Amino acid sequence: MFSPEILKIGHPLLRACAQEIRNFEEVRELSAFMKEIITRQPWSGVAAPQLGQGVRMVSLHMPPEVAARRGEEVRPPRILINPVITPIGSETREDWEACLSLPDLMGRVVRPVHIHLRAVDEVGNPVDEVAQDHYARILQHECDHLDGILYVDRMTDMKKLIYKDQFHLWQDPA
Ligand code: NI
Repeated sequence: MFSPEILKIGHPLLRACAQEIRNFEEVRELSAFMKEIITRQPWSGVAAPQLGQGVRMVSLHMPPEVAARRGEEVRPPRILINPVITPIGSETREDWEACLSLPDLMGRVVRPVHIHLRAVDEVGNPVDEVAQDHYARILQHECDHLDGILYVDRMTDMKKLIYKDQFHLWQDPA
């Protein structure tokens, strides 16, 4: 059984490069757990290293309430194994991000708006698609975890790192 306990910044596993997955059978239970846990908790996604598992697997979704707020498509929970993300074009956008591994904080991060995603799903089917806007941001955030990168590393202005309970003081410049 896996624990839903999330590693916090400071734990070395969050800063390590996760291992490529070669045997999908070995991660079957972990993938089922990760797919389920993001719907049981108010999480948009989780990466295996955050659960103490140093393998290249992420789980994410776009539930209806988030999709409606963002004007984007609803995305059911999914698993991505060994994902590779490549930016498309040069358009970038700054927006707020938060992370389970940095509880109570949020910060503004500039990321490419359009990306190309290649991965495999939990049964080994290839994934090859383009994504954009908020969904592309979630994908990039989760996949960064597999390389030991946290959103704060991507921030260019640390004055925009805030506690969530101070958010009401900020007018979203986006
Ligand atoms: Ni995160």
